[in-house]
Amino acid sequence: MPRFLAAKPDADLLRLPWNTPLVDWPTSYLVALPRGISRHVVRFLQVGNSILAAKEILEEVAVHEYRQLTELRRLGVPAVEPVGVVLGRQSSDGEPLDPILLTQHLPFSLPYRTLFYSGVKLDTVNRLLDAMVALFARLHLTGFYWGDVSLSNILFRRDAGEFAAYLVDAETGEIHGRLTDGQRTHDLQIARTNLFGEFCDLEAGGMLDASLDPQWLVNTIEERYQNLWAELTGIEEFSDSEMYRLEGRVRRLNALGFDVAEIDVRTSPDGRTITMQPKVVEAGHHARRLMRLTGLDAEEHQARRLLNDMDTFRAKLPATMSESVAAHKWLIEIFEPAVSRIPAHLEGKRDPAQFFHELLDYRYFQSQRENREVSTEEAASGYIADVLAGLPDEHMTNIDPIGQELVNKFDPSHGFIDEDYEKPYDPWEDEANDPQIPVMFGFDIEALRAKAREAEGGAG
Ligand SMILES: Nc1ncnc2c1ncn2[C@@H]1O[C@H](COP(=O)(O)OP(=O)(O)OP(=O)(O)O)[C@@H](O)[C@H]1O
Ligand SMILES: [Mg+2]
Repeated sequence: MPRFLAAKPDADLLRLPWNTPLVDWPTSYLVALPRGISRHVVRFLQVGNSILAAKEILEEVAVHEYRQLTELRRLGVPAVEPVGVVLGRQSSDGEPLDPILLTQHLPFSLPYRTLFYSGVKLDTVNRLLDAMVALFARLHLTGFYWGDVSLSNILFRRDAGEFAAYLVDAETGEIHGRLTDGQRTHDLQIARTNLFGEFCDLEAGGMLDASLDPQWLVNTIEERYQNLWAELTGIEEFSDSEMYRLEGRVRRLNALGFDVAEIDVRTSPDGRTITMQPKVVEAGHHARRLMRLTGLDAEEHQARRLLNDMDTFRAKLPATMSESVAAHKWLIEIFEPAVSRIPAHLEGKRDPAQFFHELLDYRYFQSQRENREVSTEEAASGYIADVLAGLPDEHMTNIDPIGQELVNKFDPSHGFIDEDYEKPYDPWEDEANDPQIPVMFGFDIEALRAKAREAEGGAG
């Protein structure tokens, strides 16, 4: 009899054919979804209302990975959610079978092979790299040494105009209280080697756009990581007449999506020099605010976009109305009516927060084109008919559930069909007109610094 190691064991799980090697499971149990390359047998299962990823691996590894994932989720790092481990499996003729690690399938996730393809825009690649780098930095901030950074071990989800990266494979991971620079460097070296190999594979298979060079890709990943790490943890020194730089640093971190819980500030004995260093920074600045105000769970950039819309909505309400009441009003009068317009058969196209983000772009362009203020509900109908219906289905696909991963199916830069909508949402452009729109990721730290300096210079 198999044993289950799980936080919430589910009766539906017990009924699955655990005494059959995963590779031989009948397709009636399986769900077809795109999947990355893996050494182990991995299948997606339909269990009750949820979709699980099942991976057949050695017992020590299975239990270790289950615990690592549990811990990472507790630390708030984007990682797939562990469901349990099935141990003590035996085939019908009494042969022992390897355990199976079960994780919740990450909805709307895209493995990299569906994202890097010939013709992919450099802009899209940059966004993917930034998402990947943000994930490394977040993992390292929490003291997680990955030991197997690779494209196949990352999943991407759309996050407004950007991407959010999730860790999918924690087999080799170790959680430490804090990582030394040596451990981080080592992790980065592994990343370089693995990623270089994967980019070369893509190149050899004709799946990497000719403009992208594997060497350039790994170099830029490392450079972006170092820049972000310096911004998150670096020591800054300034004179006592530049105290505004303290606030500037916090603002820049917020703009990068991080909250600062602790910042170490020291003054030189003569009081003329100040040094500061963020000690505890936590990702999810906007996602947390959105969650607190509305209970909506969204990615960081999506949250920022939704909050902007909410703030604009609030500006038209009586100034005495509290933020939380206004947020509730926005939720039931704007967000929910728009999302509830999505017909059931189109629900697999985009998750609600992403839908709303794209709808806001659509509303903006439609208002511009028609030179009037288009309502969110009206734009929702237009967006569903003009765009959503024609998008490829990212939640489910009709690929073969056993065969290897699906290639070149999605066009990640594909958002809008109409030429007008081709232009991605550019917060830098809007910023001049709308100070409510904060800067976005991009890790163009220099530009960010210049902007912050300019703003501070103007104010101080
Ligand atoms: N919870 C999940 N949600 C979505 N996709 C998943 C999930 N778990 C696994 N996958 C898909 O299955 C692929 C393989 O999973 P995983 O990396 O854990 O296998 P592996 O055999 O341990 O890999 P490796 O060869 O790196 O050791 C992933 O790249 C991902 O595309
Ligand atoms: Mg893997």
